[in-house]
Amino acid sequence: MSQQEAHSAIVSPKGNWWSIPAGRHEKRWITIAFIWCMILFAMMPFWHFKGGQNPSGIRSRVEPARYSERVTKFVKDYQVGMDKGIPVVAPPPGAEVYLLGKMWDWFPVLKLKKGVEYTLHISSIDLNHGFSLYPVNLNFQIVPGYDYALKVTPNKAGDFRIICNEFCGIGHHLMVGKVLVEE
Ligand code: CUA
Repeated sequence: MSQQEAHSAIVSPKGNWWSIPAGRHEKRWITIAFIWCMILFAMMPFWHFKGGQNPSGIRSRVEPARYSERVTKFVKDYQVGMDKGIPVVAPPPGAEVYLLGKMWDWFPVLKLKKGVEYTLHISSIDLNHGFSLYPVNLNFQIVPGYDYALKVTPNKAGDFRIICNEFCGIGHHLMVGKVLVEE
């Protein structure tokens, strides 16, 4: 290395650079980085209370088989039709709604009413799935063994898709579900 000294992960700089005290600019950057770390650190609890983005859902443990039974009962009680081999279920206002993620379906198809409150339960019976409601920006991790329940009130009528956003095997890209919201 003659005229211009170049360093990389392979070519180390010469001399005793590690024993020389940090320069003015270096110290300044360390200070800025430290302050920024502290700001980001404080943002975590701040957003929890102020951001309104962490759902204060009801969480409980559930055996996948038990959850599956609840879904079966839910479908039996309120089924109104079929859509490509998957039951379409229209629960009454205020009902406990059960949605199940499994390789590679969202089960069943939900038919809800706009402006009506439901308690939506979501769980998986096999492995991790990701619930993402399209085109709304809503994302949840769906983990087997846990029942995530949320109070939801659809505020827009339409035909929504549930897309799995957590890689769950060979059929991951086919894992698309449906939520129909009527006026
Ligand atoms: Cu389920 Cu990806």
